[in-house]
Amino acid sequence: MRIVMIGSGYVGLVSGACLADFGHHITCVDKSVEKIDALERGEVPIFEPGLDTIIAQNRAAGRLDFSKDLAAPVASADVVFIAVGTPSRRGDGHADLTYVYAAAREIAAAVEGFTVVVTKSTVPVGTGDELERIFRDEFPDKDISVVSNPEFLREGAAITDFKRPDRIVLGTEEPRAIEVMREVYRPLYLNEAPLYFCERRTSELIKYAANAFLAMKITFINEIADLCEQIGADVQKVAKGIGMDKRIGDKFLHAGPGYGGSCFPKDTLALVKTAQDYDSPMRLIETTVAINDNRKRAMGRKVIAACDGTVRGKKIAILGLTFKPNTDDMRDAPSITIVQALLDGGADVHVYDPEGMDAAREVLGPVVYGRDPYEIADGADAVVLITEWDEFRALDFKRLKTLVSQPVLVDLRNIYPIAEVTRHGFSYFAVGKKSGS
Ligand code: UGA
Repeated sequence: MRIVMIGSGYVGLVSGACLADFGHHITCVDKSVEKIDALERGEVPIFEPGLDTIIAQNRAAGRLDFSKDLAAPVASADVVFIAVGTPSRRGDGHADLTYVYAAAREIAAAVEGFTVVVTKSTVPVGTGDELERIFRDEFPDKDISVVSNPEFLREGAAITDFKRPDRIVLGTEEPRAIEVMREVYRPLYLNEAPLYFCERRTSELIKYAANAFLAMKITFINEIADLCEQIGADVQKVAKGIGMDKRIGDKFLHAGPGYGGSCFPKDTLALVKTAQDYDSPMRLIETTVAINDNRKRAMGRKVIAACDGTVRGKKIAILGLTFKPNTDDMRDAPSITIVQALLDGGADVHVYDPEGMDAAREVLGPVVYGRDPYEIADGADAVVLITEWDEFRALDFKRLKTLVSQPVLVDLRNIYPIAEVTRHGFSYFAVGKKSGS
């Protein structure tokens, strides 16, 4: 099959590369000249484990190419995916669909013969209907069917998520489109990943509902963590204890500094706005958004409390800046708010992240960037672990102890057992479990 992916960002690039790996012919299109030039030189503009290899292999096999112009590849395509960004619109939090509609009009102008246009970008309920209206009114001669196919991949685990999904949601009731989409995902179906067909509006909502539910689940365990600290319980054991109930499940129950990233914050807000517009408010999600916002600031206060109530003039070493490990993405990372709180408190903040420092330079205030955990820990009054990168999971505490000024570890991801830290003379502060020295 010939497939075009409009938008070579995270979702577009991963989906395009993986679909090429299934044996389809894919052209990834992007308006950014620099991005396409870089991809053509063999450079991958995002950090995602395994993506560079898949891209290189499929380019070499002649199944994956890149283009700045969509007209030619779209004219010969069976399927065109729209995977452009849908950022929060400034001012009101609604998803900004400018890029989606612009891409759709360009696609419609270029298609020849029956073509399925698929929204893979996260788009509000009714976007598919609006695209259909645009195609019908403005391009009456074109034979286009609009399908919703939300993506559920996570950054850092994107290739596995795409190739081994729990389900593939497809919003269409048109028999011709159903047949085409079955063909696109046939390799996954053979792997027994269920294809779940439903109405387009339902499919669009599934994406928002899934992200909102996961954000709510994280927020729930974060509040339980706060309660654990007050009553002397252990949130990791509570999570395990409830997670063993299959109705609840053990995933997404890691307490931490609050969720971040390019999806949960934006999608929860957009869902809240849509619900308000339809006079059907989603109070659980409104509260989730508010709790998560407060939590990031509370984590700043937690670090200050661990430093005896003040960080003025103190050196704080931050391990991990990205919103989660295995990505270089800093969008809505909790580290941004935490670092700002420390800077506001007068701290001298030194930071290190394995992949996120370039992106961090664009969003963090005046901090010092170090080359590894030990360099920034030198003379520190507290070491604060914000993102659980693997390389922070086996810190050499003996060495750290000789470097730091005050042996204080604030572990906002609960990756260490208290005994392992305190036995080296550190005071340990965790989230929702016993702290001590
Ligand atoms: C999320 C969803 O998990 C994907 O299914 C979805 O496709 C994607 O959004 C999207 O809409 O594009 P992602 O943002 O890449 O994926 O990352 P997650 O692994 O979901 O983590 C999001 C945030 O929640 C991170 O800040 C992470 O640290 C935090 N988190 C996650 C927790 O604090 N606790 C957990 O137990 C899990």
